Amino acid sequence: MSKLAVKGGKPVRTKPYPKWPIFDERELEALKEVLYSGVWGIGGTKKKEFEEKFAAYQDARYGVAVTNGTAALEVAFRATGIGMGDEVVMPAYMFMATASAVLYVGTLPVFVDIDPETFTIDPEKIEDAITDKTKAIVPVHIGGCPVDMDSILRTAEKHDLFIVEDACQAWGTEWRGRKVGALGDMGTFSFQSSKNITSGEGGMVVTNDRKLYELCWSYHNCGRTVEGAWYQHDLLGTNLRMTEFQAAILLVQLTRLEEETKRRNENARYLSKRLSEINGVEPLKKDPRVTRHAYHLYIFKYDAEQFRGLPKDRFVQALRAEGIPYSGGYKPLYKEKFMLNLVNTGSWLENTEKRRITAA
Ligand SMILES: Cc1ncc(COP(=O)(O)O)c(C=O)c1O
Repeated sequence: MSKLAVKGGKPVRTKPYPKWPIFDERELEALKEVLYSGVWGIGGTKKKEFEEKFAAYQDARYGVAVTNGTAALEVAFRATGIGMGDEVVMPAYMFMATASAVLYVGTLPVFVDIDPETFTIDPEKIEDAITDKTKAIVPVHIGGCPVDMDSILRTAEKHDLFIVEDACQAWGTEWRGRKVGALGDMGTFSFQSSKNITSGEGGMVVTNDRKLYELCWSYHNCGRTVEGAWYQHDLLGTNLRMTEFQAAILLVQLTRLEEETKRRNENARYLSKRLSEINGVEPLKKDPRVTRHAYHLYIFKYDAEQFRGLPKDRFVQALRAEGIPYSGGYKPLYKEKFMLNLVNTGSWLENTEKRRITAA
C-alpha cells in the first residue's frame, strides 16, 4: 500500500470536487425577472408558485415558504399549539435546529437513541420516552433516509400526538412510494446553501391539513389571516416570509431535483458496493420499505477495532488528508455545550458569561 497522505504520501484525490451550488443562466434570468418586476417581497407571484409546486412535489396539499429550515420547524411547532410544560420526542443524532426550535417555543426536547443500522430514531424506543406531557414526535429523516413512518404513525395515533417530520435533508425522499413531509401532520424543509436544492437560505412547511396550513401561514406572516385584511392580526405571529428572489431561484432548482436525486442514488450504490469491500467501514442498512433516499449525506459506520483501535477523529483526519472532505458527523445533541449549559444552569449561557453580561 502506498504511504498515507497524513504521513506525507500523495493524496488519493487531488482533483477538486464539482462546484456547489449548481446553477446556470436560468437562475440568472429568474433573478433578473424579479429584480426588474420591482416586486421583491409580498405581493409577488414566485413565493406562491414555489409553495404550490414544492408541496405538490412532496405529495402535500399546502406549503408555506419561510426564511429557513429552523424557522419552518418553529412555525410548525407553533401551529401545534405546544408550549411551556410540554415535551417533544426526537432523535439524539441530528442537526441542533430541531431541538433549538422546540426550546424556542418553550418546550422540552426528549431525546431517543437512534437505530445504529439506519442512524434514524429507533421506533422501538419511542414508547419509553412518552409521558403524559408529550405532545409531538419529530422523526428526522437524517441524511435523506426516511424514518420508519409506519411505526411512527402507529405510536402517534396510539398516544394522540402530533407528528412534525424534520425533512430538512429529505427533498424527494420516499417511504413506501410516498414522499415524506406530509405523512405526519406537517413536514419541514431547508434550502440552505449546502442543501440538495438551495437559495442560500430558505425553508418550507408542508401539510395536508387546511387548519394547520392556515396557522402556519398566519404565524409566518405577522399573525395575518389567509383571507383577512392587511392590518388584521388575529394571532401573535412574526415575519418569516421567503422573498421573491429566493422563490425564483428555487423554482429553477426544483426542475433539476429529479435528475440529481437519481444521480445521487446511483453514486451512493456504487460507493456502498466499494465500501463493503473494506473491513472496518460499513454502509448503513437500507430498509426495503425505503423507496427513495435523498442522499443529502452519505453516512457509513466506522469500526475502530478493524483499524487497530484508531480513534474516529484520527480516521477522519486521515481521510481529509487524502482529499476526502468528510464532516465527521454530528455529536449526540445532549452532549453539545448549549444543551449541557441548559441542563446544568438552566441557561443557554455559561455562568461565567452570564456574570460578565450582568456586570456590564
Ligand atoms: C435535519 C435538519 N434540521 C433542520 C435544519 C435547519 O435548517 P436551516 O439551516 O435552513 O435553518 C437543518 C439544516 O441544516 C437540518 O439539516
